[in-house]
Formats: sequence, structure tokens, C-alpha cells
Amino acid sequence: MRAISTAAAILGFFVFPSLFVVSVLGAPSPTIQVGRSVTGSALQRRTTPFFPDQPPSCPICAQDYPSMSSCAEAAPVLQNFTNIIFNPGAFIDVIKCQENILNTPNLPAVVDGMRKVCAIESTLLGNVSNVDVAPKKYLTLPLSQVRPAGWLLNQLQVQTNGLAGHEHEFYHWVSGTDWTGGTQAYSNLEEAGSYWFNGMVPNGVLVNSTVLNQKTLDFLNYVIDHQDSTGWLGPEVGTSKPRYLWGRYPFFFGAIQMTEAHPELTDKVVTAMHKFVSLANTMLKNNGTGVEPWAATRWEDFVISLQWLYDNHPNGNQDLLIDTMKRLKWTGVPWEKVFSQQYFPTTAVERTPNPFNLPLTWHGVNVAEGLKALPSTYRFTHNQTDLDVASKGWDLLFQYHGRPSGIYAADEYLAGLEAVRGTELCLVVETMFSGSYLYQIIGDPKFADRVERITYNALPATLTGNMWSRQYLQQQNQIASKNMNPNPFPNDGAYSNVFGLEPNYPQLPSRVAEVRLERIPDYTRSEVSGAPVPRTVLDNDYSCFKQQGLRHCRHALSFQRHSDYYDHCFVGIHILCPNSSWVSGGTIAINGGTARAVAPSNGLQAVSVAAGTTRFVLNLPAKITTESRPHGSIAVHRGPFNFAYDIPRSQKVLSQNSQQPLAVDLEFDATGAWQYAIDPSTLQFHATSPSSLPSPIFDSGKSPLSITVTACPINWSTAGDTFAASPPTNPSCTGGNTTLTLTPLGTTKLRISEFPVM
Ligand SMILES: *[C@@H]1O[C@H](CO)[C@@H](O)[C@H](O)[C@H]1NC(C)=O
Ligand SMILES: *[C@@H]1O[C@H](CO)[C@@H](O)[C@H](O)[C@H]1NC(C)=O
Ligand SMILES: *[C@@H]1O[C@H](CO)[C@@H](O)[C@H](O)[C@H]1NC(C)=O
Ligand SMILES: *[C@@H]1O[C@H](CO)[C@@H](O)[C@H](O)[C@H]1NC(C)=O
Ligand SMILES: *[C@@H]1O[C@H](CO)[C@@H](O)[C@H](O)[C@H]1NC(C)=O
Ligand SMILES: *[C@@H]1O[C@H](CO)[C@@H](O)[C@H](O)[C@H]1NC(C)=O
Ligand SMILES: *[C@@H]1O[C@H](CO)[C@@H](O)[C@H](O)[C@H]1NC(C)=O
Ligand SMILES: *[C@@H]1O[C@H](CO)[C@@H](O)[C@H](O)[C@H]1NC(C)=O
Repeated sequence: MRAISTAAAILGFFVFPSLFVVSVLGAPSPTIQVGRSVTGSALQRRTTPFFPDQPPSCPICAQDYPSMSSCAEAAPVLQNFTNIIFNPGAFIDVIKCQENILNTPNLPAVVDGMRKVCAIESTLLGNVSNVDVAPKKYLTLPLSQVRPAGWLLNQLQVQTNGLAGHEHEFYHWVSGTDWTGGTQAYSNLEEAGSYWFNGMVPNGVLVNSTVLNQKTLDFLNYVIDHQDSTGWLGPEVGTSKPRYLWGRYPFFFGAIQMTEAHPELTDKVVTAMHKFVSLANTMLKNNGTGVEPWAATRWEDFVISLQWLYDNHPNGNQDLLIDTMKRLKWTGVPWEKVFSQQYFPTTAVERTPNPFNLPLTWHGVNVAEGLKALPSTYRFTHNQTDLDVASKGWDLLFQYHGRPSGIYAADEYLAGLEAVRGTELCLVVETMFSGSYLYQIIGDPKFADRVERITYNALPATLTGNMWSRQYLQQQNQIASKNMNPNPFPNDGAYSNVFGLEPNYPQLPSRVAEVRLERIPDYTRSEVSGAPVPRTVLDNDYSCFKQQGLRHCRHALSFQRHSDYYDHCFVGIHILCPNSSWVSGGTIAINGGTARAVAPSNGLQAVSVAAGTTRFVLNLPAKITTESRPHGSIAVHRGPFNFAYDIPRSQKVLSQNSQQPLAVDLEFDATGAWQYAIDPSTLQFHATSPSSLPSPIFDSGKSPLSITVTACPINWSTAGDTFAASPPTNPSCTGGNTTLTLTPLGTTKLRISEFPVM
């Protein structure tokens, strides 16, 4: 497991930000920025218009307001301002209409009044100032610029050899997807095909799989070649299926990554996207057509793709792009309220009425995706409060629903702190993605640290070691994985914690494809600041593994710089160091030189890189820490790893796919005791040094890392016969002391990791 923690920290290479100016392409947009106080038809109104005292035109306009009815001929919507609140698109039309009128001579008197209206509306509803898109703090390195090696490459190969890399052969939602001319779709959200695509694009590139790369290229070509004359993209083309926007958002993420790995596809993708944006803008204007309740929560995913276009290929459409971002926000749910201290739910929500009457805002996966809403909004509002609320909301989420595995609980809806409540796999991967994005925009290392914890704990915990079976819901204390009756999940089925092909809901296998161990590279390749992408070959060979005495090494990277880029590209890198409370006495040695103490600034350690190859070894010794959990229980951590007791278990095959025998549903039952209390003062770390790591590494008995602890048996009941009651507070020992061995949570499939204390 040493190597895993080594791989963990190839996360994040930084060019000195000051060396490069992030380019924001395109001319400033003169668009009238209409406010955000407006909402889509299906949603509740957020605020009502009001007239501030300043600037002085406001009171005048307030006074003139009733006379706006005289503008009726120009735009019927002005007859009743309230309509504007429900239809911001119409309002923009009015403004545009006014502009045209204003440019004609012989202005009718009524238009003069409209001038004032126009002036005030910008104040009332927003700002007429330039609306550049704010730069990200760190840019993403294009897919294929950093390649995995060592452990990480192996883990991606496990994924490729598992369910994700084989779905296209046998799993009907993917192999027969209507995205590429088949008939299969599990709902009219049309997301299965595009989830698969978004996951397999980076997976194929990073493991250099000829088969997957060809499949994703075929997918891309099919979809774009079938774009209809209106601009629509996807399986609805040529059918009468409803046209909802959401299913396209994962497609765009995949398509963008295709252009990164294959720049020759750029024109094709960008042209198709612009055409689609123009249609989407019209739909949004038209009362938010295409925005059903799921799209209304996931609008940020489209905003991010629009911002990619704006940053890289605006093609003169800056105004339309920004306008579309705003319309997505208006027609979407108000994440700034959901994540506010005032409204954020502090307990499991099943008995709490949603204050916005929008229950989907408390759906765990939507929350995970919604974490990107405020940072992406900030890019077009420049409103610091958006970032502050995003950062505070992140903290609230983990304070009230967090898990020692790094993730939070939501078995459909936010589920509080009890250790048997569930966490959906989908929200695990979406939180990894969102945390990485938050880090790119805000730059606070707390986001990166948590993504690392989720990646090494919550993600592998919910997949079998060979990545052929996965759960819908994982539990922090999980004493069985089986058809549960009763179960502790108020809104999910009895089969939710079985490891299988599609437990509880079919959505997931394609989501598993989207999973993303390739999100680790995504994280790896994120966060390079600077417009010119360094043409650097990163050859992370983890040489430290091979040397004795470097047990805690997290990175050993060598940088081979292309000499022709030497002068203008790469003069330094920053390495992301983990939360300093996890490590003590970290050192770095460069090119075989003396190890010196790391001195990170805001989590970043600067390293100068000379011509040729620079090799550095970062040694970050981790500490054992404990975390207080409900009912007086504790969780045990070392570095980014959460440690758990791996309950001995039996395995039963519940079902097997007829075409693919490796796709099995598995029941696990405990075959030994799990009812123990531990003495935290006796925690002791152990590591072996295998010459190479076992593969797959996230499986029982495979970890070279362990922690031992003195424990005693206690009375600890079950609730139902398949899940544990809350850990007993102050339990008495019912037998003699024993030594328990804890291993990283990701290697356990049945486990206790919130322990009563002796
Ligand atoms: C203005 O529109 C709102 C919402 O559509 C409606 O409730 C209200 O009755 C309308 N007022 C008038 C005077 O038509
Ligand atoms: C409007 O723009 C000005 C100048 O950029 C800025 O100072 C002000 O805060 C903005 N107001 C709003 C409401 O965004
Ligand atoms: C990917 O594989 C192809 C052929 O199998 C090979 O030519 C190419 O060099 C490989 N690319 C990388 C980056 O390993
Ligand atoms: C917008 O949607 C509302 C509610 O569905 C409907 O009553 C109204 O007529 C629609 N307006 C337009 C312009 O389509
Ligand atoms: C800035 O953002 C916060 C929260 O996202 C919001 O409540 C506030 O209205 C915004 N301010 C402006 C001037 O838009
Ligand atoms: C660092 O880790 C400690 C212990 O897990 C935690 O309390 C603290 O909030 C973390 N700090 C940051 C900046 O994430
Ligand atoms: C544990 O449970 C058993 C059976 O319910 C009971 O007899 C015993 O007294 C309990 N022991 C303690 C220490 O609570
Ligand atoms: C059992 O462990 C506890 C906690 O470490 C310790 O206080 C106690 O002395 C141990 N009992 C025996 C019999 O070793």
C-alpha cells in the first residue's frame, strides 16, 4: 500500500502561476447582464424585483414603472412586469428590442421612458459592465499530457479489464445504446450512453487501449454526424422522444477530452457544440424548454462546457455563451441557498421538508454535482460571495453528513452521520470531480486533500478488487452485503448494498464506466496554471519504491523536458503536499541531493527544474490520527487512508450475466465476530515492503499497510439481521483482550470502521 500512497501524490503539478498569464479569450461582452432573481417555470420564484435607492435613476425608474405598459407594442411582456420575472428570456428580448429602437432617429417619447427603464434594469437586475469570464486559478492539463505509470496505471488496467472496460461488449444499456443507433435507453434522460462515453474517453487514452479509443471515436463521430439541422445532438434525433438537455452534458465532457487527446477533432467538436448552444439558448429562452427537474439541478455541468468554449474556442459567440450560462442558472435550482448556513440540512433529511420545495436539491448525487455550481457561477459573476458560499457549503456538507472514508452519506437523500446509512457510488465519483473543480477555481488545498481521501477510501470500498462488481450504496460499518430486509435506507431497495452488475438501479454500470480511476489522472492533470501547456513528458517511475528505506515516499517523478520548449515553458513546478496535519517531517531530495524539509506554501512545494531530467523524491511520513464519531465511537486514519476491521466473510454468487460470466452479483456474510471495542492508545502502524505490489491492490489481505490495536469483545446488537445498531457508548468487555488488525478501508468489503472505545 506504500505504493498507493506514493501514487496518491502525483496529484498536482504546478507551474509557478506568476510565470504565465491565463488567457481569457475574446472581446468583452456588451450583453446586458440581467439578474439572477428569476427562475424557470417549474421552480419557485426566488426573489421579487425591488428598486434600490442608488443610483439616482432607480427611484425615477420606480416612479416610471407603471408607464411601462405603454411599451406594450414593443414587447408584450412589458405589460406585466411580473411576467418578466417568470420569463427572463423575454426580458432580454425587450432589451434587445429597445436597443434597436434606440438606434433609430425620431425616438418616440415612450422610448425615452424605456431608456430610463433600461438604465435601471441593469442596476436592478445585474450589471451592464463587461462580463468577462473570470480565469480559473489552475488550468487543467489536457488529457494525454500526463500519463499514469506504476500503481496508478495498473489500477486503470484493472478498471479496463473489469466491468467498465467491457460494458460495450455485453451490457445492453451500453452495447445497444440509442446514442449510436441502438434501441436501448433506461429513461428519457438519455444518460447511459453519454456516461459511458465520458468515462471511457480518458480511460482509453490513459491506458492506450486501441479498442476503447476506437469505440469512443466511433461514438463521437456517430453523434456529431447525426446532429440534426436544428443543432440537436443525441439519440432523440429523428424520433419523437422528448428533448431534455441533461443527457448531453456528460457527452460534452467526453467530447472536450477527445479534442485534448486528438486536436485534429477540435473543429468538428467545436462546430457541433456551438450549433447546439445556439439551439439550447433558444430553448432556455422559450420558457426553459428542455430543463426537466434533473437538468435543473445539474445546470453547472453545461456551464462548465460553455466556459471551455469561451476560454478556448469562443468563435465570436462570447455573448451567446455568457447569456446561455446565465439562462442555465436562472432555470436551475438556487444552489447558493441550498449550500447556505441558513438552509443547509444538519440531519438526515427524510423527515425534513425542503425549504425550496425542491427535494432533488437534497439528492446526494445532485448535491455532488451541485458543488460545482457556485464556482462555475463565479466565473461569470465575479461575485466573491459565490466562492465563499461554495467553500462554506463544502464544510457544512461534511460536518453534518461526512464519513471517515472522506465522502458523505446520502442514500438517495442526505443521510446524516449514522454509520449504517448509505453512500451512492455515483456521488462518490461526482464529488471527486467537483472537489477537483473547486480546487481549480478556488485553490484551497482542503478540496484536493479530501478528493485524495475519497479516492483512496470511499471509491475502492464500493467496488470488488477486480472492479467487476459494485454497490449502489456503501456503508461505513457494513456487516453484510445482501438482500436486506429490513434495510437502513429509507428510500432505496433491499438490494442496494449487494456488489453486482446493476443493484437497485441500472444507471450505475455506465456510471462505473464513468468512474474513474481515470478521475485520479483527471485530478493529476488538473491544476496547471499557465496558458501554454508545457510540452513535458512526465515519466513517473516511482523509483523510490525500489529503494530501501523510503517507506513513506509519495512521489518520485522524473521530468523529461523537450529542449525546444525549455526556454519558454517550464522553469519550475509546484507539488501539492497533503494536509500538514497528516504528515510530519516531510522532506524532498532533488537529483539525488540531500533531503531537505518541505516548506509548502498553501499546500504547494516549489521545485526548480533544470534542463534535462529532474528527479525528486518526496518523503512525507504520515501520522496515525483518530476522529470522533457519533455515540462516542472513533475512526482511525493514517495519512489519507481510513483504516477498518476487515470482517471475515463468505461469498455467495447471487446471479451471473448470461453473456459475461465475470459480471456477477455477490452476497457477503460475516463468518466471524465484528463486535469489538478498541483502545486507541494502542494503535500501531506496520508496513511490509513487497518487491512489487499485489494487483488488484484494493482487496482483502492485499494491503502491505496495517494498524494493530488492542480490542475486546462487547455486546453490540444488530438492527434487523443485516446491519449493525449504532456503536454502543461506553461498552463493557465481555471477554479477554485480543489484537485486531486494521487495513485500509478500500481493501475491506465487510467492515467496522467506527469503533466503540474500550
Ligand atoms: C401579471 O402576471 C402574473 C404572473 O403571470 C399574474 O399572476 C398577474 O395576475 C398579472 N397581472 C396582471 C395585472 O395581469
Ligand atoms: C457592477 O460593476 C461594477 C464595475 O465592474 C462593480 O464595481 C459592481 O460591484 C458591479 N455591481 C454588481 C451588482 O455586480
Ligand atoms: C499507444 O499504442 C500504440 C499502438 O499500440 C503505440 O504506437 C503508441 O506509441 C502508444 N502510445 C503511448 C503514449 O504509449
Ligand atoms: C411558460 O410556461 C408556463 C407554465 O408551464 C405556461 O403557462 C406559459 O404559457 C409558458 N409561456 C411561454 C411563453 O411559453
Ligand atoms: C453574490 O452571491 C451571493 C451568493 O451566491 C448572492 O446571494 C448575492 O446576491 C450575489 N450578489 C450579487 C451582487 O449578485
Ligand atoms: C487536515 O486534517 C485534519 C484532520 O483530518 C482536519 O481536521 C483539518 O480540517 C484538515 N485541514 C484541511 C485544511 O483540510
Ligand atoms: C451481553 O449480552 C448478554 C446477552 O444479552 C447478557 O447476558 C450480558 O449480561 C451482556 N453483557 C454485558 C457486559 O452487557
Ligand atoms: C486489556 O486492554 C485494556 C486496554 O488496553 C487494558 O487496560 C487492560 O489492562 C487489558 N487487560 C488485560 C487483562 O490485559
